[in-house]
Amino acid sequence: MTVRIGIVGVGRMGRRHAENLATRVPGASLVAACSPIGEELEWARNTLGVDRVYKDYAEMLAQKDVDAVFIVTPNTLHPAQIIDALRAGKHVFCEKPLSMVLDECLAVEAEAAKHPHLKVMIGFVRRFDASYQDAHASIASGGIGRPFLVRSQTTDQNDPSGFFVKFAPTSGGIFVDMSVHDIDIARWLLGSPKALRVFSLGTVAVHEGLRLQLKASYRGDGAHSFIDGLGSDDVLKLARKATTGVHVATPVFDGASENEIFDRRLGCGRQGHRVSVAAEAGIDPQDMNDGLLVGHEVISVRRRRRRVQ
Ligand SMILES: NC(=O)c1ccc[n+]([C@@H]2O[C@H](COP(=O)([O-])OP(=O)(O)OC[C@H]3O[C@@H](n4cnc5c(N)ncnc54)[C@H](O)[C@@H]3O)[C@@H](O)[C@H]2O)c1
Repeated sequence: MTVRIGIVGVGRMGRRHAENLATRVPGASLVAACSPIGEELEWARNTLGVDRVYKDYAEMLAQKDVDAVFIVTPNTLHPAQIIDALRAGKHVFCEKPLSMVLDECLAVEAEAAKHPHLKVMIGFVRRFDASYQDAHASIASGGIGRPFLVRSQTTDQNDPSGFFVKFAPTSGGIFVDMSVHDIDIARWLLGSPKALRVFSLGTVAVHEGLRLQLKASYRGDGAHSFIDGLGSDDVLKLARKATTGVHVATPVFDGASENEIFDRRLGCGRQGHRVSVAAEAGIDPQDMNDGLLVGHEVISVRRRRRRVQ
């Protein structure tokens, strides 16, 4: 059976999804594309042979022979576009994050519950990465003991063009747009427990233009986030833009001994499970040392808390 897909949003990420769907995904057929920008629709028509293109999303949703939609639009539009698609009887894949506002997330969940025959999926891409799947299997099978610490670090390569600053108001910034990957992967690796409390710090380290948007220490380009109660102490270290290059890493430590963590150079010790994706300009080893220091900070916080209790 072929699933006939209409895509909405054919920008940076939408083009990648569109190309994959049109050329690499067995059982999928890209039959329609929607964007308010004519040039993007021309690209879909000329490059991928998509002959049904729409400026109006509602018009695409009205097409009976579109089974599912791919939503790859600005984050602010996701909830309404998901709900409209469900009401039109379409399965949904939507890029992360689900929304920037909690109430809207709940509204989407409520709508999805009314259409149990329709699939709704949010694109948390890391769950499909082979090394993360290996980490998940290893933790689930007890291969590293009881997880004690997840330290997740994500950096993009620095982009001096100014795009990142312009993109921030509709992306939600470092926590909602970027850290959502680390939060998702930490919860997934640990069996989806519910966080009890969250403490986060943001800073503007490189992109001064972000200051104009404060509301928003969370729209900084560097941040630490501590999430307690996931069954481990989570540490998410986020640097939105790293001059050293792209870096995604999620070491998970067992509870053998807090001090042992420091014997495990770069977190790659005997029982720690390390997932690391480094690309392009490579990783500054100093950056990893910072990561170990973050681990140290959390342990200190735990000890202080115990003393207070
Ligand atoms: N999973 C990942 O690693 C990853 C990486 C980058 C972006 N994303 C996500 O992908 C989504 C799109 O990001 P992007 O970088 O491609 O942004 P973009 O600005 O390049 O593209 C946005 C697209 O949405 C279209 N659009 C805007 N308003 C619209 C409307 N009212 N109706 C229909 N289409 C409309 C634009 O024409 C454009 O095609 C975001 O949700 C972002 O979080 C995910």
